[in-house]
Amino acid sequence: MSADDPTAEEFAERMLASALGFADILAAHLGDRLGWYRSLAAHGPTTADELAERTGTDRRYAREWLEQQAVTGVLQVEPGGDDDGRRFRLPAGAAEVLTDDASLNYLAPVARMFGAVGPALPDLLDAYRTGGGVSWADFGADAREGQADLNRPWFRELPKAFAEVDDIQSVLTRPGARIADIGTGAGWSSIALAQAYPELRVDGFDIDDPSIELARANAQDAGVSDRVRFHNADGDGLSNFGRFDAAFAFECIHDMPRPVEVLAAMRLAVRDDGPVIVMDEAVAETFTAPGDDLERIMYAYSLFVCLPDSLSHRPSVGTGTVMRPETLRGYAREAGFADLEILPIEDFAFFRFYSLTR
Ligand SMILES: C[S@@+](CC[C@H](N)C(=O)[O-])C[C@H]1O[C@@H](n2cnc3c(N)ncnc32)[C@H](O)[C@@H]1O
Repeated sequence: MSADDPTAEEFAERMLASALGFADILAAHLGDRLGWYRSLAAHGPTTADELAERTGTDRRYAREWLEQQAVTGVLQVEPGGDDDGRRFRLPAGAAEVLTDDASLNYLAPVARMFGAVGPALPDLLDAYRTGGGVSWADFGADAREGQADLNRPWFRELPKAFAEVDDIQSVLTRPGARIADIGTGAGWSSIALAQAYPELRVDGFDIDDPSIELARANAQDAGVSDRVRFHNADGDGLSNFGRFDAAFAFECIHDMPRPVEVLAAMRLAVRDDGPVIVMDEAVAETFTAPGDDLERIMYAYSLFVCLPDSLSHRPSVGTGTVMRPETLRGYAREAGFADLEILPIEDFAFFRFYSLTR
């Protein structure tokens, strides 16, 4: 036994803390999906009956959830009121994190993403035994929408970040420039760039049909569907869509079963001096245990979503969420790039930006 090994009591405490955190996430999933947080944020201090009435939900469950949320420290209890008339308040900071989809602190989608794991557990267990997978489509709307909403506020920050990178800025501001957005999901990256650069034309690609439908609706609502087109197509076929001035892959290369083929297609489809940019997780350069919170959350996504998704296709390199810079460098070289460089874009959520060089 090493001096660093926890005692049974210490480890039991850790497990209890994990159970409480897990329960908070599942309870947040209920509050998000049932509209309870949004109702509390809109109406202020609320009783269980009022919450149930306003959201079309069951009063007995609403009361249990409100009490759990107060006991766990998410909600505050207003003074006065008996068991039936007690009023619960969502403090402003918690309301921002749980309901403000424009805020960089918006984290309700994380609860949605982990909520998607519940129905998939039997399939995940099966995949872990057999080496099979669970596809992005199988994880369904909770994962798709959780992913989209988590990154959406950050995509609005892209123009500010890219303004500091001459090679990218000069392309995006060039009149009539045409860019590709591979693995676009619900399309928020394409839409944010089109909104920021009024002459830019964007083609977004994804293999998930419901994502493409969502992306088209989002572009329509955002008023950019004349310049932003979405295609249900694999990134490896990019050259079928003409030449591009730049190509981007936002948080998707590690999900891809065949990332080298997609990167090679990006290299061929982008004109020689055009940037090819990958945004992916800012994980450590090498495996280190124990790891920091970023490393821990990325392994969590990897266990439950990204690796099973990647292995649901065959063949698959099975990257997992924890794609270290050397792994991407290897893929880039195999795809015909000379190397990659890390762009000086700091403190951008959990992301690192790579420029693949020729
Ligand atoms: C984690 S999601 C990221 C979506 C979006 N870029 C974002 O950041 O919100 C990964 C996306 O990559 C898509 N994808 C996976 N392999 C792909 C491929 N070979 N070509 C195009 N899209 C792919 C998935 O369908 C999924 O929508």
